[in-house]
Amino acid sequence: MTIRIAGIGTNLPEKVVTNDDLAQSIDTNDDWIRERAGIRERRVGGITSEMAVAACREAMAQAGAGPDDIGLLVLCTTSPDQTFPATSAVVQAGLGLSCGAFDVNAVCAGFLYGYVTAYGLMCVPGGPEKLLLCGSDAMASLTDWTDRGTAILFGDGAGAVVLERHVEGELLGWDLGADGSLGSILYCDHGGFIKMEGREVFRKAVRAVVGSVDKALVNAGIQASDVDVFLPHQANIRIIEAVASRVGIPMEKTHNVIAHTGNTSSASIPLAMAQAQADGVLEPGAIVCMTGFGGGMAWGTAVVRW
Ligand code: UT7
Repeated sequence: MTIRIAGIGTNLPEKVVTNDDLAQSIDTNDDWIRERAGIRERRVGGITSEMAVAACREAMAQAGAGPDDIGLLVLCTTSPDQTFPATSAVVQAGLGLSCGAFDVNAVCAGFLYGYVTAYGLMCVPGGPEKLLLCGSDAMASLTDWTDRGTAILFGDGAGAVVLERHVEGELLGWDLGADGSLGSILYCDHGGFIKMEGREVFRKAVRAVVGSVDKALVNAGIQASDVDVFLPHQANIRIIEAVASRVGIPMEKTHNVIAHTGNTSSASIPLAMAQAQADGVLEPGAIVCMTGFGGGMAWGTAVVRW
């Protein structure tokens, strides 16, 4: 028995903010944002727990799982509804679950940290048969909309998966990394807004992610050319292009949503995964590489046989 992803769900708030909308209040323009970040619009106005409940419901429906089937809920978020209770508890109640629930905060690497943790917990004797893993972030609520260095990038969204024991699908290799000495280049104080040294984050992210993907591929015992589907964190299309080219995975194998979502932090990888599913490439046996990075700095990669 191994563990597979049995269902995927997503949720985006309704309100769309286009680049032209932003250009009305800050010194920026649509051409610059498209060219430098690959973003056309983003969704705002989401509440972390509400988006998570909606995404989880969709993932559960696709997996054919009811509330009693879920043995554990892991919620990845860096924008919890409150300091406490954990937002996972709010989501647990919202879904009518009776299982345990906890939050993971590794900022934009949250989904990878959550995925590897969840996978490990399912392998422990007595671990859950089915586990709900969700990335949900309301980054718009942490964004200073007068700061063009961050306002152009972030948006709200959620993505969820149901993990279940099965004969197909397995985690082949992974890597989780962090360098807490880089905290000052991307952070958000209690009650404050996101502060970012964009160029520095860009540089460090490319280096960290390339190293992380290389390590995970070595652990998996495969080469970059074996990867069928590449799902990178959706922060900036130029970061995705730089990573793909350095790792040796063609851009055609990436499945991106950034143009319409911006950077949704913990939600971006499951949102890209839902896009890959819609594109029809998540076939049983496909080698899928997911990788992310962000504040911390923290990063992570998982190489999965679908
Ligand atoms: O989840 C992980 C978190 N974050 C990231 O991964 C973000 C990583 N960083 C980035 O995505 C990029 O650094 C940004 C998109 C934030 C900025 O792009 P950049 O290519 O690094 O721009 P820059 O800061 O080097 O600025 C280039 C030029 C400057 O003008 P000059 O000095 O060349 O005349 C800026 O003043 O672009 C100007 N500029 C802008 N112009 C229009 C900077 N921001 C903007 C803007 N609109 N929003």
